[in-house]
Amino acid sequence: MRRGDPATVTGDRSEWPRGSFVQAVEGVLDSFVDSRRPTVDTVGPVYAEAVEELRSFVLRGGKRIRPSFAWTGWLGAGGDPGGPDAEAVLQVCSALEFVQACALVHDDIIDSSLTRRGFPTVHVTFAERHRRSEWIGDPDAFGEAVAILLGDLALCWADDLIREADLPIETVRRVGPIWSAMRTEVLGGQLLDIAVEARSDDSLDAALRIDRYKTAAYTVERPLLLGGALADADPALLDVYRTFGADIGIAFQLRDDLLGVFGDPAVTGKPSGDDLREGKRTVLIAAALDVADRDDPAAAETIRAGLGTDLTSAQVDEMRALLFRLGAVDEVERRITTLTECALAALSGADVTPDAADRLVAMAHAATRRTT
Ligand code: IPE
Ligand code: IPE
Ligand code: MG
Ligand code: MG
Repeated sequence: MRRGDPATVTGDRSEWPRGSFVQAVEGVLDSFVDSRRPTVDTVGPVYAEAVEELRSFVLRGGKRIRPSFAWTGWLGAGGDPGGPDAEAVLQVCSALEFVQACALVHDDIIDSSLTRRGFPTVHVTFAERHRRSEWIGDPDAFGEAVAILLGDLALCWADDLIREADLPIETVRRVGPIWSAMRTEVLGGQLLDIAVEARSDDSLDAALRIDRYKTAAYTVERPLLLGGALADADPALLDVYRTFGADIGIAFQLRDDLLGVFGDPAVTGKPSGDDLREGKRTVLIAAALDVADRDDPAAAETIRAGLGTDLTSAQVDEMRALLFRLGAVDEVERRITTLTECALAALSGADVTPDAADRLVAMAHAATRRTT
């Protein structure tokens, strides 16, 4: 398997670790798909075509934040990018992008989203293909069925990458439970997300719990812990990673909630306003309703009546204005700032290598101030 040169897997201190690290991750993913092609080709050309779509999805865009946190967690605990384990560690970090592919492909079905990373979502792509080919049956059902299967395949491939990583048995034993918990948490978080929406639960507690499990766990907390486990970090450092990861992970999702309502689709690559049309119970909405229920019942009524309906763009604009006027946007910004400060305070006392500490600070800011 072709891998990135571990010696160049250093990343950039001020931005996302783009450049060489991202290329190394993408090289692992691309080579992994190649390694599965013989089996895929045996099944047949229809499968091969679908798998190429999965390859494009995985390689096309994506900030690679999860592998970056895992890698930095490993460096922070003394991992040596020039050492004998570096390639296997890179492979474990890269596997997180297959988990992400599964999460996103399935999430876009769940959320009925039309675009992702600036392109049509996977289920939409296959529905269009069905329509263009004038096949029989319901094109949308076909698109969703293919996307479910490709999402499943991505998750299986994530596990394959982990299992095939050339790591000492003690390391495998440390990594296994974290990997397992991460997958269980993210699926639970997604389930909470839709259940809370279905029950119209507007509480802040429910919204924060969703953020912790559907995002923070698999985006920052568990990737850092994976990195720590790979380097056999001290329990004290693992505690810091847990606190830092949960705080930055939740702040990352709070930023995502703001981008979901106010973001520029040309920059985020995903629709804006859909969170409102879908009726997502985010912290932003919980904060707005908390104030409106006390001070402005008419505004509360407008938000509750509009959430989860097919809002026109003028109605979306009206909701946006309300969220500002009620102070919900400021409240979410305050929470992002506080969470980031708490995370950085936890990190400042940690026994983490200085280079990784600098990187984690830069990554915390990038994750919480992003526009994409
Ligand atoms: C999107 O994650 C899903 C969330 C948890 C908010 P990212 O914002 O990391 O998406 P990509 O991988 O960069 O496309
Ligand atoms: C995505 O949550 C979380 C996962 C994919 C696990 P959202 O539905 O809030 O994120 P976007 O806005 O579609 O990326
Ligand atoms: Mg969702
Ligand atoms: Mg979504």
